Amino acid sequence: MEKPDQMFHKKSFIAITGASRGIGKSMALKFAIMFPPKSVLVLMARNVGAMEIVRTEIITLTPNITVIIRQYDQGKTDQGYFDGIFDRVLSENKITKGDFEQVMLVHNCVSTGDKDRTALQHCDGDRVRSYFNTNLCGMILLNSSFFTTFYGPSPVRVVVNISSGAAQRPAPSLGLYSAGKAARDMFFRVLSTEEPTVRILTFAPGAVDTVMLQDLEENTSSSAFQTMFEGIRKDGKLLTPEAAVDDLVYVLQENKFNNAEHVDNQYMKYEKYRETHLKY
Ligand SMILES: NC(=O)c1ccc[n+]([C@@H]2O[C@H](COP(=O)([O-])OP(=O)(O)OC[C@H]3O[C@@H](n4cnc5c(N)ncnc54)[C@H](OP(=O)(O)O)[C@@H]3O)[C@@H](O)[C@H]2O)c1
Repeated sequence: MEKPDQMFHKKSFIAITGASRGIGKSMALKFAIMFPPKSVLVLMARNVGAMEIVRTEIITLTPNITVIIRQYDQGKTDQGYFDGIFDRVLSENKITKGDFEQVMLVHNCVSTGDKDRTALQHCDGDRVRSYFNTNLCGMILLNSSFFTTFYGPSPVRVVVNISSGAAQRPAPSLGLYSAGKAARDMFFRVLSTEEPTVRILTFAPGAVDTVMLQDLEENTSSSAFQTMFEGIRKDGKLLTPEAAVDDLVYVLQENKFNNAEHVDNQYMKYEKYRETHLKY
């Protein structure tokens, strides 16, 4: 497959999930200045007020990009909920999909689920189902909806699957999160074999100082995991969301990754903490 070069030079339609805060917000702010004028950025999450703030910040940075807010709940996997989402974004905003050289979907949205129990303690079917609805089923349905709108090899189609080191290495108290991330990585590996013209980056950002990480530090039932994060934080090794996004942008710009292969950002930086505290 021909690798699309210069991703950030192409007039693009980009949708980012989980764009109301954290890494998704930083990504939206950075992408807005990286992509050429007349590109369209769709911010997706539940909190419209927070996305309005992101949009205002973007407009002060660059007036040349169109920012659209699309509220959705990725956990709503009822029949039909995801159908036509992107068709409606295009028609409601009078945008023609043929105007773009590239379309990109960033799967960044996340919840970490119950962190106060071990793998053997997940006994509540509704909670387990709800977890995978948001983090796996909803993502798959949104992805299919996107590719129903943007079918065929032209324009260039790109997916960024925001993964985690937990997809590859067990994270105590995060059984659902780890399993969900691993399943997503494999889903995109399958997609890459079925649709070789889709360019897919699976990217684990490292330990990043966001609401998600703070919640994990406070609420994990694993004291070893907690101590590990204390060490990472104390040693100043947590990334800011901006730094993690800079690393992501670098990988996309280089465009040398193998399709759908897990790219672990700054993996070695965290190895010593894992070996010391988790002992594996
Ligand atoms: N932070 C880290 O250390 C770290 C490490 C490894 C991987 N990652 C990955 O990086 C990505 C971003 O994480 P983050 O740390 O930035 O998380 P975060 O600050 O908790 O942000 C999560 C985002 O997901 C959205 N979201 C949550 N539930 C949703 C739902 N049901 N429907 C739609 N949107 C929903 C939230 O928006 P609303 O509440 O407005 O819906 C929010 O914008 C995730 O995929 C995460 O797994 C993070």
